[in-house]
Amino acid sequence: MVKPFDSHAHLYDEAYDADRAQVLAESARELSGLIIPGADLASSHQAVELAQMYGNVYAAVGFHPHEARLMREGDEDMLAESAKDKKVVAIGEIGLDYYYDHSPRETQKAVFIRQLGLARQLGLPVVIHDRDAHGDILAIMQKEGRGVSGVFHCYSGSWEMAELLLKMGFYLSFGGSLTFKNAAKTVKVAQNTPIDRILLETDAPYLTPVPWRGRRNSPCLVKLVCAKLAALKGLSFEETAGVTAANTCALFNILPGLEQG
Ligand code: NI
Repeated sequence: MVKPFDSHAHLYDEAYDADRAQVLAESARELSGLIIPGADLASSHQAVELAQMYGNVYAAVGFHPHEARLMREGDEDMLAESAKDKKVVAIGEIGLDYYYDHSPRETQKAVFIRQLGLARQLGLPVVIHDRDAHGDILAIMQKEGRGVSGVFHCYSGSWEMAELLLKMGFYLSFGGSLTFKNAAKTVKVAQNTPIDRILLETDAPYLTPVPWRGRRNSPCLVKLVCAKLAALKGLSFEETAGVTAANTCALFNILPGLEQG
């Protein structure tokens, strides 16, 4: 049985305070792997700690655009220190969010560019969050993203932008929003994107796939995203799970089947 890989879930979130160990154990058992991306220094440290508990659970460290205003002068060094842990497979999640604007846009851009530099310096891929900031993200990636590989998580842009990103070598990741009724634009992108450039994710505890939309999300529900992508691509569940898990391992330099504990 080929198991899907959840490339993006925030298991340190307070939504799991009551049953985190159980959700983590179930995810480690039911999935081929799981990556927990940080959003600031504290959650990045928590992500690394959780990753250390299971061989197939990994972490990314970084400042989310919401928290960009909190990144201080020496924090790159703190992230670099965390990234020495062999369970840290990426810098993330980083990027721009012009929907919520929790941090000033100029700060978001500066912090994003600093962390792209950090990823290049450390030789790690990046996990990118882009909400309503497609133009600026593309401009920054074209200028500052040279030599950095990565994934656009919960991809929400146009097919035109997706084509450019795919040409630049990036992967696109799809989550529960692929199953939503109003997902026509994302469905079109997923249909057009070659399967060998797609990752699956949940973004748990958010974006719970249909039919559980509205409830708390959990990594195991990546199976519903996998089933939806399989239907869109006319592939079996097994093949879709296998190819997208292999893509995840290729991008993040994870040795499939060899648990790095
Ligand atoms: Ni996220």
